[in-house]
Amino acid sequence: MANVFVNINDLSDQELLSMIHQALLFKSGQFIPVINRQVVANLFFENSTRTATSFQMAEMKLGYQRIVIDPNKSSATKGESLEDTLKTLKAIGIDTVVIRHSLRDWYQPFYEMAGKEVPKLVNAGDGNGQHPSQSLLDLMTIVEHFENFAGLRVRIIGDIYHSRVARSNAEILNRLGVEVTFSGPKEWQDQSLEQFGSFVDIDEDLGKQDVIMLLRVQHERLTDEENQDFTIDKYHEDYGLTKDRYRKLKSNAIIMHPAPVNRGVEIDSDLVEADKSRIFQQMKNGVYARMAILNSLTIPSLMSGVRK
Ligand code: CP
Repeated sequence: MANVFVNINDLSDQELLSMIHQALLFKSGQFIPVINRQVVANLFFENSTRTATSFQMAEMKLGYQRIVIDPNKSSATKGESLEDTLKTLKAIGIDTVVIRHSLRDWYQPFYEMAGKEVPKLVNAGDGNGQHPSQSLLDLMTIVEHFENFAGLRVRIIGDIYHSRVARSNAEILNRLGVEVTFSGPKEWQDQSLEQFGSFVDIDEDLGKQDVIMLLRVQHERLTDEENQDFTIDKYHEDYGLTKDRYRKLKSNAIIMHPAPVNRGVEIDSDLVEADKSRIFQQMKNGVYARMAILNSLTIPSLMSGVRK
């Protein structure tokens, strides 16, 4: 049993597929997990709607005891280190902590300590590093539509450099046999990702892609200078999913976006709810993917469930 879920690439293919299978089982209602005496704390140092709420929903569905800690009212504001905060939560009796933090790789020092000196750890997003629970729900959404990964073509478009979604998904998709390509402004490309796929013009082979994965323009991570250069109309025309580009997509292609969406920037506002869009399905799947994540950290003897 693992004590951390912090980087999607830590999982073997078998573990990954098993978690996707479990998330789909939870979604189908064929397995209803009940009664779990674990205590989970949610500690979000960065804002969130989807991840924070769906982790809480997953915890409720699993029967966990939940605590939400507001970092702005915690002793982190008095300078307490993350390590001391985590040791404190362990001492108080918290079994698992779900953390979102702006510090990339915040979890690295805690691999060995997790489940012992500090609670078990779930990474709900670290700076522009990883967003493993988003990756799992994205993979689940792809499996729902295509069943398998091998041979699929996924085009990741937008602010690659600042995106933890791009970083998490590119490596795992590449490992699963997907042909990954990236498009977006040159200044937001990331050479460290070229090992997983090449950067191409957005219109190159657009009609051959199975998945169009759009990324949010992350204004909060742009420098003042970058934000100043940014024009919505120009971005949308050059790198956005316009109606014209939508018409060129394969009939079976799907559109994904981790959200929140900047309507009219990464994607034409009318296309957010288009037939090919899986954006709100991704959000729904997030609850079940996060149930599978939390369940993977749970001591089996404390878990009981019923099969319909
Ligand atoms: N996709 C995602 O992480 O959204 P939130 O920031 O709302 O959690």
